Amino acid sequence: MSDPAARVRIFDTSLRDGEQSPGCSMTAPQKLRFAHALAELGVDYIEAGFPASSAADMEAVRAIAREVRGAAVATLARCHPGDIDACARALEGAAHPRIHVFISTSPLHREHKLGLDRAQVLERAVAAVELARRYVDDVEFSAEDALRTEPEYLAEVCSAAVAAGARTLNIPDTVGYTTPSEIRALFEYLRANVRDAERAVFSAHCHNDLGLAVANSLAAIEGGARQVECTINGIGERAGNCALEELVMALRVRGEYYRAHTRIDARRLVPTSRLLSRITGMAVQRNKAVVGQNAFAHESGIHQHGMLKHRGTYEIMRPEDVGWAQSQMVMGRHSGRAALNDRLQALGFNLDEAQLNAVFAGFKALAEKKREVFDADLEALVLGSDARA
Ligand code: KIV
Ligand code: ZN
Repeated sequence: MSDPAARVRIFDTSLRDGEQSPGCSMTAPQKLRFAHALAELGVDYIEAGFPASSAADMEAVRAIAREVRGAAVATLARCHPGDIDACARALEGAAHPRIHVFISTSPLHREHKLGLDRAQVLERAVAAVELARRYVDDVEFSAEDALRTEPEYLAEVCSAAVAAGARTLNIPDTVGYTTPSEIRALFEYLRANVRDAERAVFSAHCHNDLGLAVANSLAAIEGGARQVECTINGIGERAGNCALEELVMALRVRGEYYRAHTRIDARRLVPTSRLLSRITGMAVQRNKAVVGQNAFAHESGIHQHGMLKHRGTYEIMRPEDVGWAQSQMVMGRHSGRAALNDRLQALGFNLDEAQLNAVFAGFKALAEKKREVFDADLEALVLGSDARA
């Protein structure tokens, strides 16, 4: 039998890692509304918050755990009993609760942040996983700053976490430091060196400090990761997290290469992205892949001409498949006669060669003065010329 495509679980952390970034905080009702949208999108896990961090987060997680169905609900805890107890209280009522415990494992963090040695970090990780397992079956363990941790020690901590009952091992690139080949090799190493590795799902959690979060997450999948932690629009600490919409579409468009798929309903990507922007007030950059306003916009004459002949010339996915109404031919300084004629026909004008030449000359003159020439401008140009046919 040919190799079946692997299923990659999508763990959305827009409401936890995303929400804790500057400019993205949300109220409890806003978080609840967005959690419903994530469930409709088809994410497998919604990381709803960090209940021990604030009363507002506790309230938001409780509401999401009670109301949202269709995705498992996860909550974050440091390896502190108080945090884990708070997670358990917040998750009461959840159909599929997950407690996600984390501790830093890198030398830099052990020394300067925690003041703990290797053995002490390992001991705390085990105690936390064991305590979380008393509350829920589904426990995820994260080794914060894993990509700057000694690999043998990381494998030892992960082995101990599995023995204590963790069933997901998350390997965060907390500071967005790694590269695709490095993270792929680390996942391969861990799968080969963690004891009872087959009992756990390996998960990638990549930050975007070098703009590599999506590439690194994809490389982690090649190395055997079967869960990816990501956020809508890539929001998150500093330069953000792996952008869900980009990862999902890379797996879909290059399915023959990655041989992995998710259960995301891609047609909901743009509406979900827009909802998050409206809630947080944080705009999506125009040239952002998949969900940015320019993602399916074409202005240059050569591209517009190609698009009119075959969409595949300049589009690798269909805008309708990710939730846009259609591609956009932006009429501007770089546009050519073919695109102008096509737009005019769509507006109901059928011009002969001479009429089109006259309108094209007027259009070019206007486009030198304006960044974008809108339909109303085109109509005025036609109606102001002799070409009204
Ligand atoms: O970036 C990180 O290390 C995290 C962990 C808490 C999972 O967000
Ligand atoms: Zn993070």
